[in-house]
This record gives sequence, structure tokens and C-alpha cells, in this order.
Amino acid sequence: MKSLITGIKATGQLHLGNYLGSFKQAIEFQDSYDTYLFIANLHSLTTNHDGESVKQLSYELVLDLLSLGADPDKATIFMQSDVPEHSELTWILSCMCPMGILERAHAWKDFKQKGLRDPNLGLFSYPILMAADILIHQPDIVPVGSDQKQHLEIAQEIAKKFNNNYGPTFKIPKELITLTKDVPGIDGRKMSKSYNNYIPVFGSEAEIQKAIMKITTDSKGIEEKKDPESCNIFAIYKLLGNSQQIQNLQDKYTAGGVGYADLKKELLKLYLEYFKTAHEKRIELAKNPKKIIEILEFGAEKARKNARQNLDIVKEKTGV
Ligand code: ADP
Ligand code: TRP
Repeated sequence: MKSLITGIKATGQLHLGNYLGSFKQAIEFQDSYDTYLFIANLHSLTTNHDGESVKQLSYELVLDLLSLGADPDKATIFMQSDVPEHSELTWILSCMCPMGILERAHAWKDFKQKGLRDPNLGLFSYPILMAADILIHQPDIVPVGSDQKQHLEIAQEIAKKFNNNYGPTFKIPKELITLTKDVPGIDGRKMSKSYNNYIPVFGSEAEIQKAIMKITTDSKGIEEKKDPESCNIFAIYKLLGNSQQIQNLQDKYTAGGVGYADLKKELLKLYLEYFKTAHEKRIELAKNPKKIIEILEFGAEKARKNARQNLDIVKEKTGV
């Protein structure tokens, strides 16, 4: 059976971009792939130094994934810090990783460009922990959004370096970016927590409505015909609707007589409908925190077993 892994940093609310860019695929694949899904809580420490917040955000993300269909009977769902083998491999890989690779990483260059004073070492070595997350589980594919492409290439590069020196050890994972374009945010730029232009998947109805009503559009009046292809509302609608729904909305744009506020209401309706089952499931799951802890313990045990086997081979080869 082929396998896949993907992780998410606990830095805030899960948004539509995170879901469509990465977890949707991973969850769909859990039936046919040996699937590993984890919360990258150690990665969160690069930017979040509030312990309570890291803990809470990490827990919320587990609820999110389970509500969206991640199934602990099929997928291995775990917290990164519960599998210390990831951290152990990180050190070994950091001794194999030239500094130059990390200096060229876009994310690091962005941090530096923003003039971040006194950046921590974790921000710089972030891709090595991510490489360890991936390589230790020997996955065939890693579903991520396009902004993670370079991180994955770094993992591939480190794996090749290791294999060249110690002989074939790591599988070179492939990426899986099924959306050719990033999910756009409410201002038309890539949806991202850092731009604060996102629509949360599990916000309250009021929060979701607020985000959708803020979508930027041109200033065409109600009666005017509108261009769906250049409209941010339509761009998001297209990602969620079926072909009939998309056609119907497109007709409203081209016929004229429908204002942007109404088009946003159409999107809101579809959005709430799209995530209705997940919202209901989340309310149920949240009532039973003990069960969530059990799921994570079970996942960590499975993940550790797999990670340990691979780490033992690495330790044997590196002589430690
Ligand atoms: P953010 O940019 O909001 O901080 P993260 O860095 O936490 O998002 O991303 C988590 C996952 O979601 C990654 O695989 C990332 O590539 C994917 N992702 C984030 N934003 C988008 C987007 N707008 N479109 C597609 N995928 C995205
Ligand atoms: N760096 C990823 C992000 O910011 C999260 C992540 C950490 C990850 N380790 C991973 C994703 C391993 C895929 C595989 O979204």
C-alpha cells in the first residue's frame, strides 16, 4: 500500500485554503493510502511562544481534521511532539544539510526581508524538521499547497544527500499539489492567515458571513452586467460548487440585475451548506475531549512504531 503524510502548523483557525490546498486530498486518500496526518506543534514554536495558545490551537486543529472526515481507523492522526523520533532525526539531518540550502529558502528570505529582528534558529532550520517529519515515515506523496513546494524540495535534497553518502535509505517523496492555483483570499491575494484575508472553515456563521461580505469587488452597480472570471466571489464559489451551481451563478453575473451583495449571499449559502456536516460533527466531537486524547494516543503509538523502525536504520548507518 502506498503512503502519504501531511501536517499543519497550529498557528490559527483552519481556513478554506488550508482545507482545499492540503487536507481535502489527504482525507480523500485515506481509503487507498496508508495516511499520516499530524499537527506540527513543534513548528508552531518558531512563531508562537504562548504555551496555552499553542496547546489550544493544536487541539482545535485535531477537532477540525476529525470533523472534516479524517478517520482514526484509517489514518494515523497524531501530534508531532508525541513522536520524539521526528526531533531525533532532525538533528541527524541537520548535520547532513548545507546551510546554503536553508539560506535560499523563500520563507527564510521573507522573514529576513520583513526585517525581523533577532530571528530564532528554529525559523532558519524549519525545513529540516519538516524533512524529518516526512522522511521518517517514508511516504510516497505529500499533499501540500504550492507554498510548501520548496520545503518539500529541500526534503528531497536532504534525502538524496543522505542516500548518496550512506546508501539507499530514504524514499524520495513526491509532492501532490492538485490545485494548480492557490485558493484566493477575500482580497484576491492568496488566502493566508498572515494576510488576514481568509474565510475560516469552522468559524461561527457570523464570522463566516463577515469574511464573505468583505470580499473585494469592482464597483459595478446592481443593474450592470458583471464579469465572473475577474471576480473574487466567483473564484471562491467555483471551488465549492457543482457544475450546475457554477453555471447558475455565472448566468447571474452575465445577465446583470444582481448586485455583489446578493452574489456574496449566494456564496455564503453554498459555503454553509458545503461545511454543514463537518460543523455538526465538530459540535458532537467537542463534547468528548477524552475521546480526542485517546485518538491522539492511539495515533502517536502507531506513528512512533513506524518512525522508530526507520530511525533505527538511520542510526545504524550513521554509527550512533
Ligand atoms: P497560512 O498561509 O494561512 O499560514 P499554512 O502555512 O498554515 O497557511 O498552510 C497549511 C497548509 O495549507 C499548507 O499545505 C499550505 O500549502 C496550504 N495552504 C495555505 N494557504 C493556501 C491557499 N491559499 N491555497 C492552497 N493551499 C494553501
Ligand atoms: N510547513 C507546513 C506548513 O507550514 C507544515 C508541515 C510541517 C508539513 N511538517 C510537514 C506539511 C510535513 C507536510 C509534511 O504548512
